[in-house]
Amino acid sequence: MSIAHLAITHLRNFESVTIQPSPEVNIIHGPNGSGKTSILEAIFLLGRGRPFNAHDRNSLIKVGKLSCTVFGGVTLAKEVLKVPVGVTRSLDGSHKIRVGGDNVKSKSALAELLPLQVISPEAFGLLSGGPGNRRQFIDWGVFHVEHSFHDSWRRLNRSLKQRNKLLRHGNITDCLLAPWDKEFVEYADIVTRLRTSYVDRLAPLFNSILGELSDLDGVSISFYPGWDSQKPLSEVLENSRERDRRQGFTSYGPQRADIKVKYLQHNAADVLSRGQQKLVICALKLASGYLYTEATGRSCIYLIDDLAAELDSRHRSLLCNMLARVESQLFLTSVEATTFNNYWQSKQIKMFHVEQGAIKE
Ligand SMILES: Nc1ncnc2c1ncn2[C@@H]1O[C@H](COP(=O)(O)OP(=O)(O)O)[C@@H](O)[C@H]1O
Ligand SMILES: [Mg+2]
Repeated sequence: MSIAHLAITHLRNFESVTIQPSPEVNIIHGPNGSGKTSILEAIFLLGRGRPFNAHDRNSLIKVGKLSCTVFGGVTLAKEVLKVPVGVTRSLDGSHKIRVGGDNVKSKSALAELLPLQVISPEAFGLLSGGPGNRRQFIDWGVFHVEHSFHDSWRRLNRSLKQRNKLLRHGNITDCLLAPWDKEFVEYADIVTRLRTSYVDRLAPLFNSILGELSDLDGVSISFYPGWDSQKPLSEVLENSRERDRRQGFTSYGPQRADIKVKYLQHNAADVLSRGQQKLVICALKLASGYLYTEATGRSCIYLIDDLAAELDSRHRSLLCNMLARVESQLFLTSVEATTFNNYWQSKQIKMFHVEQGAIKE
């Protein structure tokens, strides 16, 4: 999977630019505020249909314009044919997605075509943010690896919504709740089984990658399903029914799932330095990319914003050496052009210099 052609219009400081990226390594360099991160944001919009920061609704659109558009030609593994993909976001909040010449409604068509792994300042939320960040990370992996996941996940959320709606009404008898409890438990078990087996495969990979990237010893990940897993969820729901009624929502279940990232017995985000956290995040994303490739035979595209930031030269070189072994298209940004020239000997490299919204190859 790689982007062979990228056209960006009215996004942040770009008026209209096009580039022809390398299928392997792309280094985007230029001074502060030139538009390096914006190129990664454009690719992210193309692959996910939303900005890096989901709450940041309109700032991607160039000031004074009504919409921004990113268009790409995506080459599927080893094929010559390019699939045209386009995303337009408008100030009124609407968006338009086109894949292979057709309008599509669902963003999942983009996700299937352009599987992205992002390492950027926003990615630190994976450790320091709420559990929603980590659930999204696991679910991205499970979604791509297990086809049955999406449907069970949708049904689970539907039954949770219905259950919460009833709970908010008050005076709800057990009889009325029972059918939704039954459906909720049924799909919760499926979703949890798939998540558990995914994290079981992710954890050893994560540890071995982190071992190559750093000397950090004692970082572990473990899965919390959203309730005390020693007990069946049906029993937990029964015991917390009064509390659920009082508060008007469901206290336990897969909607509370998390992965705990620990350093020794501490929460990793509380004790690791920023540089160490960055290495942990890289190891998580690389492990997830590896499982994706193993399951689908295709590769992810890595977007790495300011790769050098927070890493000393030894860790930078360990990370670059590992990235050089990944069979994926890479987009790396850097203030200096020369920071990583030595790592990609056997790769096709393209360098893009960005300056005030103009890109030169
Ligand atoms: N909506 C917008 N309209 C116009 N310019 C913008 C908008 N949002 C950001 N910018 C400008 O775009 C430039 C590019 O930012 P960015 O890509 O983050 O730079 P870099 O990563 O190269 O440091 C900055 O100068 C910023 O002020
Ligand atoms: Mg930047």
